[in-house]
Amino acid sequence: MSRLHSRSWVREAVRIIEADANRSADTHLHVFPLPADWGIDLYLKDESVHPTGSLKHRLARSLFLYGLVNGQIGQDTVLVEASSGSTAVSEAYFARMLGLRFITVVPRSTSPEKIALIEFYGGECHYVDRAPDMYPEAERLASECNGHYLDQFTYAERATDWRGNNNIAESVYAQMQSERHPVPTWIVVGAGTGGTSATFGRYVRYKRHTTKIAVVDPENSSFYGAWETGALDYATGMPSRIEGIGRPRVEPSFVPGVIDEMLQVPDAASLAAIRVLRERTGHWAGGSTGTNLFGAFTLISRMVSEGQAGSVVTLLCDGGERYANTYYDDAWLAQKNIDIEPYLEKYREFLVSGKLAPEA
Ligand SMILES: Cc1ncc(COP(=O)(O)O)c(C=O)c1O
Repeated sequence: MSRLHSRSWVREAVRIIEADANRSADTHLHVFPLPADWGIDLYLKDESVHPTGSLKHRLARSLFLYGLVNGQIGQDTVLVEASSGSTAVSEAYFARMLGLRFITVVPRSTSPEKIALIEFYGGECHYVDRAPDMYPEAERLASECNGHYLDQFTYAERATDWRGNNNIAESVYAQMQSERHPVPTWIVVGAGTGGTSATFGRYVRYKRHTTKIAVVDPENSSFYGAWETGALDYATGMPSRIEGIGRPRVEPSFVPGVIDEMLQVPDAASLAAIRVLRERTGHWAGGSTGTNLFGAFTLISRMVSEGQAGSVVTLLCDGGERYANTYYDDAWLAQKNIDIEPYLEKYREFLVSGKLAPEA
């Protein structure tokens, strides 16, 4: 892709994307009710209220701006991605806004709901049989049609401004200012690309906050093993059952150096936690939010046992309506042999006593 794109088109494209950001309000920071005498407050940053329904709205915006300012996206560039999830939904939205063709490479097993969402925003789905084939196929497709491979897994950590510029971390600290514990003791997030944890980890160090970053990892994922052993070529080769997080290999945007602690989370624990979230707050979230909540409950249980007051912040990553036929369907859980009952009991006991019973 040698020729320069028209600067006036790029200027207008940047204006259009900035205008979209300007029309959007910041996402809420909800309180999850805990017994007051614990002296601990738990917050959920609600990224499901973005126009495209997930935290990936921020990443997609950053990847488009990064491609535009690097001279990689122009008025006739075909955009390509490897994603069956939230990222593709958000990227399709921005591509349509700029009048560009967007193709995402997805495994044939992708849920019809996700396909419908991507196509709703004008995106095209290109199918592969095996998930690991997504990356090479996206690269091949991009070079075949003289396109641009947005490549979230590689550029998520580079395209997002970790110093501020209204990134998710800056927004959280601004919204915590009037709270009784304005500087969180812990921030708990999951990892798909690793971009979100990289942004939080870099921001708290850059701003010299004492906040620690905990990253939760679902079953079959490679991130925990890599962080624990230091081996970035650690790979399970196994897909995650929690959409959006957990990877068969360690992704380039995963930055272990900014992570203070990692927690492995059973899928049943994640899927029970989103039921308790709905029960206690009415908020309807996807599975990765449940993984976050398990992490938050575990760290809060530790703070209670140590008599440590403070605040914990985690993310509500996307809305539950996308998972009505899976995570919120008891027949689907039974078919997958996922028993959430023991965790429902654990959480209900924890929310009274502050003690989260250890894993059996
Ligand atoms: C629903 C959901 N939660 C969490 C994440 C993890 O975010 P990141 O890719 O920034 O690590 C993703 C990423 O795709 C996601 O789709």
